[in-house]
Amino acid sequence: MQTKLKGKHFITTQDWTVQEINTLFELAKQLKIETAKGQFNDDLKGKSLGMIFFDPSTRTRTSFEAAMTQLGGHSIFFAPQTMQISHGEGAKDTAKVLSGYLQAIAMRHCNYNEGNQYLEEMRKHSKVPIVNMQCDVYHPAQILADYLTIREHFGENTRGLKIGVSWTYAPNYMRPVSVPQSLILLMSRFGMDVTLAHPPEFKLMPDILEQTKKNADEAGVKFEIVNEMEEAFKDADVVVPKSWGPLVHTQNEKEGIALIDKYPDWIANEKRMELTKKHSIYMHPLPADRDKEVTPGVIDGPHSVVYQEAENRLHVQKALLSLIM
Ligand code: CP
Repeated sequence: MQTKLKGKHFITTQDWTVQEINTLFELAKQLKIETAKGQFNDDLKGKSLGMIFFDPSTRTRTSFEAAMTQLGGHSIFFAPQTMQISHGEGAKDTAKVLSGYLQAIAMRHCNYNEGNQYLEEMRKHSKVPIVNMQCDVYHPAQILADYLTIREHFGENTRGLKIGVSWTYAPNYMRPVSVPQSLILLMSRFGMDVTLAHPPEFKLMPDILEQTKKNADEAGVKFEIVNEMEEAFKDADVVVPKSWGPLVHTQNEKEGIALIDKYPDWIANEKRMELTKKHSIYMHPLPADRDKEVTPGVIDGPHSVVYQEAENRLHVQKALLSLIM
């Protein structure tokens, strides 16, 4: 167990050792039981978390705010249009000033080729931890909740489990690649065999694939990329089918939507779930595009753990904030 985590930034799980992440899970489990008993604590009494949202959110905002309240602290919601960011104040001055008032700064900034760079600039100039609430590259808090959910179903030794991460169809807009990228990075470190499925135009970032390959080699597990959804589902213990945009291929919205529209049959349905193991779980970070990404029979069916997964955002984030603030 690694306990010296005060002041540690949380931009990607790659910056945390497996031991450090395990410490967080130990605490999350304890805090979840305390919450179930209606017990809250004062670990963050007098402390404030600033949360800057460049993009909308239901789960992330609510779970971080509730986490701060349940730990006896306070959170402040910022929309950039209500800040001097809207008049051009940059990441450096924002970080230097806010870190004089707050004990941590959390940010969601998903603009492709901008979000992660902005967070890194904040990290460079902040005196307090920077917490990634999703950027164009990573969504680490979501993936902590995902892994806690997997542990709750399969036990703490997840070595040898197969996770299938698959692209799905969803029209209208190009969703970030941060969820599948963070998933493949973390699950490989915890001994899971990872199969990533997507149509050819929906590749993830090359350096993330390289890091995942390295993680998988170090952990002695499999990491494969396939172009058939069925291969991700076949004999899987865990499936996470969700949509993302062809952002590595094109950032042009019109071209991207046209590519998405080529693959409407990439849906998580009952037939595909039958390919998975009997005890398998279906996961999705939500919001899910019902009838497009997933059939109601699957998302509301016996394999689905999506609401437990969403609730676990609260518990892992309480552990994270307690440890770093
Ligand atoms: N899964 C997730 O991050 O949800 P929100 O976009 O609602 O925060």
